[in-house]
Amino acid sequence: MTIKRLHISGVRNLEKVEIDDCGSVNIFTGANGSGKTSVLESLFILARARSFRSTKLGPVINHLATRCVVFGELLDQSTIGVMRSRNDQQLFKINGNPVHTASQLAEQLPLQLINAESFSLLEGGPRVRRQFLDWGVFHVEPEFLFHWRRIQKAIKQRNSLLRGRPENRSSGGKNGRIADSELAPWDAELALCSDVVDTMRAAYIRRLAPHFLHLLGELVALDKPEILYQRGWSEDLTLAQALERDRQRDSQHGSTHSGPQRADIDIRVGGRPAEDVLSRGQEKLLACALMLAQGVLLHELTGKTCIYLVDDLPAELDRQHRQALCQQLGAMRSQVFVTATDPDSLRDCWPAGSGTKWFHVEHGQVLLGT
Ligand SMILES: Nc1ncnc2c1ncn2[C@@H]1O[C@H](COP(=O)(O)OP(=O)(O)O)[C@@H](O)[C@H]1O
Ligand SMILES: [Mg+2]
Repeated sequence: MTIKRLHISGVRNLEKVEIDDCGSVNIFTGANGSGKTSVLESLFILARARSFRSTKLGPVINHLATRCVVFGELLDQSTIGVMRSRNDQQLFKINGNPVHTASQLAEQLPLQLINAESFSLLEGGPRVRRQFLDWGVFHVEPEFLFHWRRIQKAIKQRNSLLRGRPENRSSGGKNGRIADSELAPWDAELALCSDVVDTMRAAYIRRLAPHFLHLLGELVALDKPEILYQRGWSEDLTLAQALERDRQRDSQHGSTHSGPQRADIDIRVGGRPAEDVLSRGQEKLLACALMLAQGVLLHELTGKTCIYLVDDLPAELDRQHRQALCQQLGAMRSQVFVTATDPDSLRDCWPAGSGTKWFHVEHGQVLLGT
């Protein structure tokens, strides 16, 4: 997926931005507060219908505007647009036709963000790594979303029975034993869908691992890196057996302890957890290797390419590692949007022929060339 033309209006301080001819590698430089991250935020909104900086889109809308609009025309002439108004109206369109879910936008425009939050892939809780994993599986397994949604529903129903909603209190809930017959249908549903999702996730990590290790080797020298998938329940039990074993504990806590909602990825360096041994710069490069590997695998399995947003690329990286990252980004078949305060920090970093375009951002205006 390559964006050819980009229109942004009413996003933060970007009152109106038109970029008619995006390149393969688009570099936005300018002073603090000029609007660089807002350009990336706009692209993120186009692909996910939400911001990466705030949970609501309200604060994203320009103070003087009533709505924000992001519109992209892709190289294959398809179009995608997102509008969000201050009074919570929203409209998503693909090729001029309204679509109703953000997952349809995501499917149309696979996009990855690398920013200061990317450290949480290593330092944060399992939820961030599950989101990373599920982004990948969602884009390569058309059936994934259907089964994933069924799992969310089964867990919600099961936990609500375990907690004992008013209508269930007579049969147990948190303070008594809930009848096995009430949980049984949800246990069966959970076990069924979880097997499908677990198989997809395990296969995904098996395929991702060689790409990840190769890219990581190109970016930084680390001692015996490993990536291991943890499915969320004991390897020696089926999920049905694990749910049976946990029944009492689940009832006491009012939540489900085993299952795909507990899946994680264990990333190790020299046999130790990566976050315990790596510097910030090394962590950033490892997170980049993970996300770039996803783009390579996406292309290998579906022929689609992923758009990369890299906010403040030079942060935490010395010149050599910055160069290594730009070389890998420029060599991907993906379109890249990068920001930095100082253009010199990214000059002469890109592979020859990678089609770099430079933009200067000043007070919400985006100007070609620096
Ligand atoms: N809703 C808004 N309306 C207008 N300006 C905003 C809004 N939200 C943030 N800003 C301003 O937008 C500017 C751009 O921020 P940002 O894109 O983060 O800058 P950069 O990444 O270049 O440092 C900041 O100066 C900020 O104060
Ligand atoms: Mg910024």
